[in-house]
Amino acid sequence: MNTAESLPRDWVPPPDQLPRHVAIIMDGNGRWATARGLPRLHGHRAGTDNIREVLEASVEFGIQYLTIYAFSTENWTRPPDEVNGLFQIMAEVIRDETEELHRNGVCVRHIGRSEGLPQELLEAIKGATALTRANRRIILNVAFNYGGRAEVVDAVRRIIRDGIPADSVTEDLVSRYLYTEGQPDPDLIIRTAGEMRLSNFLIWQAAYAEYYSTSTCWPDFGREELRRALAAYAQRQRKFGSLLNATC
Ligand code: IPE
Ligand code: IPE
Ligand code: MG
Repeated sequence: MNTAESLPRDWVPPPDQLPRHVAIIMDGNGRWATARGLPRLHGHRAGTDNIREVLEASVEFGIQYLTIYAFSTENWTRPPDEVNGLFQIMAEVIRDETEELHRNGVCVRHIGRSEGLPQELLEAIKGATALTRANRRIILNVAFNYGGRAEVVDAVRRIIRDGIPADSVTEDLVSRYLYTEGQPDPDLIIRTAGEMRLSNFLIWQAAYAEYYSTSTCWPDFGREELRRALAAYAQRQRKFGSLLNATC
């Protein structure tokens, strides 16, 4: 048994109990900063810097797809200083990290809308996705200006524009029109900072994902916390609506 308390120090997820795709709602940057008497943007800086450790740990554990929620379509409602500060931090970090991500075999992808994002950020994203597109050690989806409902709306628009007949619209087809086209659905969704909601994250793809919430704020969520989330996942019994493996 690998409960959070009794997890052996050397436990690592066995390949057959490892999620292929982990998605993370990186929440709590603001609370992390406020608790330290710092401005919220310091929290966003610390949170963005933290992505590296979690990405490295994900590669170490053998996760194939990592999706991180960095800015939602609803986050535009925040004060302009915070929104612009976030865009600046993101552009800077992507630019600074692109070469190393490439050397480490990371394929960076952007999921979300480009509209409204500043040119500087769009260019940083474009540079990173173009350079790393053929890498396959891990796929890193950066959900930026992402909304699950916007994603479904975008998919429906493209399906109609492509003239797909109504009878040909299947679950498979819709999945192929999403930003995550060709990728497996997330097996595990982690949310930091304690909230128990999806906040418009991967609402289609999350249909059968396992959910894990921790009170730790994102800037403090490191390798050990990820290992604990993976241990919790390893204990889940996924049934997908069937009676398989039912014990009572
Ligand atoms: C998550 O941290 C990052 C974004 C949503 C951009 P928050 O900024 O939501 O942090 P809290 O929830 O206010 O602590
Ligand atoms: C979700 O966090 C979005 C990201 C982590 C980017 P929020 O802080 O925006 O979510 P709510 O407002 O608590 O639902
Ligand atoms: Mg939040």
